[in-house]
Amino acid sequence: MLLLLPTRPHCSITATKHYQNKTYPQNQLRNHRPWALQHFSPSSRWRLSLLNSVSDQTFMEEKINDDSILSVDPKPSKGFSSKLIDLLEALVVKFMHDTSLPLNYLSGNFAPLRDETPPVKDLPVHGFLPECLNGEFLRVGPNPKFDPVAGYLWFDGDGMIHGVRIKDGKATYASRYVKTSRLKQEEFFGAAKLMKIGDLKGIFGLLMANMQHLRTKLKILDDSYGNGTANTSLVYHHGQLLALQETDKPYVIKVLEGGDLQTLGMIDYDKRLTHSFSAHPKVDPVTGEMFTYGYSHMPPYLIYRVISKDGFMHDPVPITIPEPIMMHDFAITENYSIFMDLPMHFRPKEMVKEKKMLYSFDPTKKARFGVLPRYAKDDLMIKWFELPNCFIFHNANAWEEDEEVVLITCRLENPNLDMVSGNEDEVLRCFSNELYEMRFNMKTGSASQKKLSASSVDFPRINESYTGKDMYMVLEHFWTAFQRLQELSSLICMRKLRQEKQCCK
Ligand SMILES: [Fe+2]
Repeated sequence: MLLLLPTRPHCSITATKHYQNKTYPQNQLRNHRPWALQHFSPSSRWRLSLLNSVSDQTFMEEKINDDSILSVDPKPSKGFSSKLIDLLEALVVKFMHDTSLPLNYLSGNFAPLRDETPPVKDLPVHGFLPECLNGEFLRVGPNPKFDPVAGYLWFDGDGMIHGVRIKDGKATYASRYVKTSRLKQEEFFGAAKLMKIGDLKGIFGLLMANMQHLRTKLKILDDSYGNGTANTSLVYHHGQLLALQETDKPYVIKVLEGGDLQTLGMIDYDKRLTHSFSAHPKVDPVTGEMFTYGYSHMPPYLIYRVISKDGFMHDPVPITIPEPIMMHDFAITENYSIFMDLPMHFRPKEMVKEKKMLYSFDPTKKARFGVLPRYAKDDLMIKWFELPNCFIFHNANAWEEDEEVVLITCRLENPNLDMVSGNEDEVLRCFSNELYEMRFNMKTGSASQKKLSASSVDFPRINESYTGKDMYMVLEHFWTAFQRLQELSSLICMRKLRQEKQCCK
């Protein structure tokens, strides 16, 4: 079944004709999860999660009174110093920022919705929604509430969640901001006050970073709850729906019975989480554990974490890497976690001196992949493998084949982050990601790679019931089943023909 998520409340939902006039038993739908794996254009940066075929109680009512959820209540302040810094910032922007540069990610298809959408009930349905289908289809993405003071990139913008609630053959749409500490403070001022990644270039970037530092020092802004936007991804674990962005802790979202979306607060796993949390954690479909990490520009640059099925976060495992980098994704197999030490380095000095972005790519360094037993208590057992220079934003999946660990990933050669703010054509030209298979031999220490498809491929999604599992094997099973089905249908046809012949006689 394919569900089309509306980008505007006036859009409708389409159910394929395949399901028309048919009622599927609830347990059948539960066991066979009809994942929607549609992929919007890579540049639209949509994140989709389908929480389907689970009872209301599973994701709507559970954990509501969980004490582990922190109420996010920042205390910003207005006053003379606040106005003085606003004035200073305005002068810096006026004299140092090139306002003629287009803000490509605030216009056209990327233009933000200025308002939230309260639940819109009984959306028009083309086709038929089975009455037993009960769930929520969700997407999160950046949607700035206030115009930026200066620069703006893909990565900037407040997280807005769009949800389609499906129940009793009807659909309801709603969109709500994730009520982050950042958003609450900007609402208090009625304007953008926090630095954006799009500002961070050259001396201007240094000044804008210091502007935020000054505002925090003078208690104009309150950074006790972090400064994240929760705009990148959604994950469902331990009965909680989490909105994620990799510089911050997760925000917990509640889906209300009527289809509305509510931010409950932030989660720090009983104060055990003191660092950032990846926007792409992996949930093991068999054990129910969640595996994640945080990266930082301060040592330890990388910290690995395992969260039990019951929501207990185990002790941090620092992973030694030579210098701070950007690590947007990782992968798990049945027995290992895979980390990517790729040469996208944190280089604040280059940002100022060479007018580059805060992270810059080094085309002379090898790509390193660290494979660690996934319950390791330290990184002594990690095995590092080297492959030709590249960067990777997103992995598709990983698994084990005998002594080899296989990673299916979207490999990118010579990325130029300075082009991230370009228009769609420029971005597509500079970011030609290709689907690759990489193999790491745990016995011999050798690594190899091969291209699986032409560009451009990124933001891959799999049926997450197969996370860490051999997808080739899965495809083989499907193919065998398909062939058997074909054989069976041929047999039926032959029998029918025989019967018809006998009848004719
Ligand atoms: Fe991502």
